Amino acid sequence: MKKLKTYYLHLRHPTTMERKWIFPLAIGSIVSLFLLFLTTLTSPDGTPLLPLYRYYSSYSAAANVFVESKLKPLPISAVPPPPRFAYLISGSAGDGNMTKRTLQALYHPNNQYVVHLDAESSPEERLDLRNYVTNHPIFNKFKNVRMITKANLVTYRGPTMVANTLHAAAILLKEGGEWDWFINLSASDYPLVTQDDLLHTFSYLPRDLNFIDHTSKIGWKEFQRAKPIIIDPGLYMTKKADVFWITQRRSVPTAFKLFTGSAWMALSRPFIDFCVWGWDNLPRTVLMYYANFISSPEGYFHTVVCNAQEFRNTTVNSDLHFISWDNPPKQHPHYLTLDDMQRMVDSNAPFARKFPREDPVLDKIDSELLFRGKGMLVPGGWCVGSRKNGTDPCSVTGNITVLRPTAGAKRLEKLIGSLLSNENFRSNQCI
Ligand SMILES: *[C@@H]1O[C@H](CO)[C@@H](O)[C@H](O)[C@H]1NC(C)=O
Ligand SMILES: *[C@@H]1O[C@H](CO)[C@@H](O)[C@H](O)[C@H]1NC(C)=O
Ligand SMILES: *[C@@H]1O[C@H](CO)[C@@H](O)[C@H](O)[C@H]1NC(C)=O
Ligand SMILES: *[C@@H]1O[C@H](CO)[C@@H](O)[C@H](O)[C@H]1NC(C)=O
Ligand SMILES: *[C@@H]1O[C@H](CO)[C@@H](O)[C@H](O)[C@H]1NC(C)=O
Repeated sequence: MKKLKTYYLHLRHPTTMERKWIFPLAIGSIVSLFLLFLTTLTSPDGTPLLPLYRYYSSYSAAANVFVESKLKPLPISAVPPPPRFAYLISGSAGDGNMTKRTLQALYHPNNQYVVHLDAESSPEERLDLRNYVTNHPIFNKFKNVRMITKANLVTYRGPTMVANTLHAAAILLKEGGEWDWFINLSASDYPLVTQDDLLHTFSYLPRDLNFIDHTSKIGWKEFQRAKPIIIDPGLYMTKKADVFWITQRRSVPTAFKLFTGSAWMALSRPFIDFCVWGWDNLPRTVLMYYANFISSPEGYFHTVVCNAQEFRNTTVNSDLHFISWDNPPKQHPHYLTLDDMQRMVDSNAPFARKFPREDPVLDKIDSELLFRGKGMLVPGGWCVGSRKNGTDPCSVTGNITVLRPTAGAKRLEKLIGSLLSNENFRSNQCI
């Protein structure tokens, strides 16, 4: 695990990696290898054996103290505190049940959640989701799930989608307390790892990294996206209507460089602060520019992050998703089914899309990757209830900072290790 952080530190301060680091690093690697060996000892359902895991943590902490007393302090503590994620899960008409299911699969008491069903969904459906959120005993206990009850009108491909994302981010900044990454998902996304896997792996990462798939090679998009001017009626009408095109075209901006990429991302708290507070004018100018841009969710954050000097070095060029595109890509990705299961696992990605509602592949993911029973929350170290008689182990809560990662953490570590490797990390930033 320490490997992950050293990749980043090395790339960030190459000159500080002198000989004096070799000894602590070697010790660290030996310890990590030993730990890796311990974590491979898992019970049949894939959950690591807890006593070993505890032993592992205290062992490595002790090793680190020993190293620190003799040499310069290590910049990283052995068991960094787990991060917190802030999720937006949004859907439209008919997505109510899937929004609940995705929320259950992503739940952890230390995270923050905003759910939103847009104005196309019926009031009954929104009320049903609201009742679910307000009456759930665990959500009630931790008060970390909220619903945007005054639904926004969201036009797919239009700037109202970006406005909705910024709205949720602003709510999370105001009411969500401490969190480290903002993750934007829809009701047709689903996780492929448990929250403990994600929290465990991300606890070793610098908190300022922004996971965003992007490129400046806009190619055909220059003519079909950057030059046309669109209007999104969702900004000023009460009924939904598709975007429309203005006959006049505009030239490509010279005040900033355009970037484009996937609409799915995990953005750092400092970057969300930068975008929402707007003390620098860049996020605001770019937002106004994107108000007339088709498919603005695939460009707004990408253009801001790469044009801001203080953030471009924090980008990791990935959307952390498994998405199955046609070649060449069409507007919509393939729906994922049971046939895609192996490819999803092999991708090591923590999330996948897009899933048909209540597809059997989701049941397989629940049982094989998330160890989650129907209608229950995804289990983690904080769930200490019994599994007997089909009761939800998470109905009894233990210490919520205890993480119990599963095999998913190893897959995720592989992905992050490759994204932060010398070959991939710096060379793919804002290119
Ligand atoms: C949502 O699920 C409930 C049962 O859990 C079912 O009665 C209802 O019809 C579902 N709604 C939709 C829109 O599928
Ligand atoms: C955020 O999530 C939604 C899914 O509801 C997606 O369609 C949208 O494009 C995402 N990205 C942004 C930047 O809003
Ligand atoms: C970003 O990285 C480049 C190249 O490594 C470096 O020259 C620049 O100073 C860095 N910028 C910031 C703000 O750290
Ligand atoms: C489990 O169910 C059985 C019969 O359905 C019942 O006799 C038993 O008391 C239940 N156990 C618990 C722990 O609820
Ligand atoms: C919870 O667990 C952490 C270690 O994971 C420990 O430091 C803390 O003291 C525990 N809290 C309680 C209330 O037991």
